[in-house]
Amino acid sequence: MPATIISGTAIAASLREELSERVQGIVAEGDRPPCLKVLLVGDHPASTSYVRAKGRAARAVGFSGETIHLQDDISEADLLARIADLNDDPQVDGILVQLPLPPHIDETAVIHAIDPRKDVDCFHPTNAGLLAAGAPYLAPCTPAGIIHMIRRSHIDTVGKHAVILGRSNIVGRPMASLLLQRGIDATVTVCHSKSAQLTALCQSADILIAAIGRAEFVGPDMVKPGATVIDVGINRVDDPSRERGYRLVGDVAFDRVSHIAGYITPVPGGVGPMTIATLLENTLHAYRSRREVQD
Ligand code: GUN
Repeated sequence: MPATIISGTAIAASLREELSERVQGIVAEGDRPPCLKVLLVGDHPASTSYVRAKGRAARAVGFSGETIHLQDDISEADLLARIADLNDDPQVDGILVQLPLPPHIDETAVIHAIDPRKDVDCFHPTNAGLLAAGAPYLAPCTPAGIIHMIRRSHIDTVGKHAVILGRSNIVGRPMASLLLQRGIDATVTVCHSKSAQLTALCQSADILIAAIGRAEFVGPDMVKPGATVIDVGINRVDDPSRERGYRLVGDVAFDRVSHIAGYITPVPGGVGPMTIATLLENTLHAYRSRREVQD
């Protein structure tokens, strides 16, 4: 039987609808809406399109804010000064610096410069540490979006074996922390390119999360029948039959795996839209918690 497809597009739309209603409630009570500022350095094509989508989604739920587009030769000191201004601005709730940054800028220094209370990406070491300690202030957008997809699809996680392919700070590591949280209670294995017995490990997964950045890496031999397969990858592969010359595929060979899995996320239309919806959720959370402190 073919797998049930988990539509990130549909789940993200319902999450945005809920957020929009909450923002309308805030504004109806006479408060200002949450404010998200996105910093984009240079003209990296993928980053430009991600940032455009984030700005559009933020406006659609009623947030204020803007994208601040900076030249790619901006100095690190000037970028840090822009971040410091946003940290000090009481009207700003969320700050996001789109990555990657040009090579002359130290990404770590930039991430460390963002006020952890406004760090809606949840990349700052204070927020990464709180999450690893099981007491998160916020959760990184992609893993938090995946938890929403699992929960809203009523997939049982308690005592299940979740295998994460990839150990990045953005997806793999925080994903492990979230799956270990009380109430989710999965048994978690994190694998990477040097893991031995990778196929056997993946085959033992009730929930397999592919975030390894290699096109169609997960084939049918790596998937247990009935497993939930979550595909975080977005890879361009050449396709002369398309006008733009390429198509997007995930880290999972969707056509071959979807006959074996119980649930599967597509690419596009899976994890991607959830990442943006949870960014908005984090911004609303940062707004509320900063106002509680101020009140
Ligand atoms: N570049 C690719 N994904 C992300 C993300 O989630 N946040 C930021 N800031 N940059 C990214």
